[in-house]
Amino acid sequence: MTGSGLFLTFEGIDGSGKSSQARMLADHLRDLGREVVLTREPGGSPGAEEIRRLVLEGDPDRWSAETELLLFTAARRDHLERTIEPALAAGKVVICDRFADSTRMYQGLSRGNLRGLVDQLHALMIGREPDLTLLIDMDPQTGLTRAKGRQGTEERFEDFGIDLQEKMRAGFLALAAEFSDRFRVIDGNRDMDSVAQDVTEIVQQTL
Ligand code: TYD
Repeated sequence: MTGSGLFLTFEGIDGSGKSSQARMLADHLRDLGREVVLTREPGGSPGAEEIRRLVLEGDPDRWSAETELLLFTAARRDHLERTIEPALAAGKVVICDRFADSTRMYQGLSRGNLRGLVDQLHALMIGREPDLTLLIDMDPQTGLTRAKGRQGTEERFEDFGIDLQEKMRAGFLALAAEFSDRFRVIDGNRDMDSVAQDVTEIVQQTL
């Protein structure tokens, strides 16, 4: 199903700065003349953006872990069909802020161990991984402070607090080891430009 495009994802805990890095990378690659689609999850297509509101706003206990997993997967399926696959087929670079690794972490780890279910559903309904995943690793407290500072309405997950942040950080590092063929870990505890320079170098090697 994949064309000649390149599928890049950014992952990291809340407040890790990955969204800014994704934007900076998109600008850089466009300057080099590449066609880039910058997108995000949950969301990235009209239907998936509607689901985004359902999963990110409101009470932390709004959904059971299983229902939440289904909603994230439904959003991802729509995003894949409508945005990601057409862009890759057209030879574009797709940069996605979070993808299935976030589900492996947030739905797979945060409320009991649902990783098996996450993987089964992924195999059934999504069935593809990024070509390259950039993990912006970040001190959990710094990340939480930054995320809280944004004061938006999308804080269902930020509400879970520092314990979740720490668990997610360790989980992401373990995931990077598990999928070491496609993951690169970048130290996010530095100024944005230094982080961006590492990102650019790694992506350049892949291109
Ligand atoms: P995001 O918009 O990337 O927020 P931030 O910029 O603060 O990192 O992600 C919003 C939240 O959605 C984040 O707390 C993680 C959560 N999430 C999941 O729980 N599962 C998923 O599959 C995805 C993609 C995100």
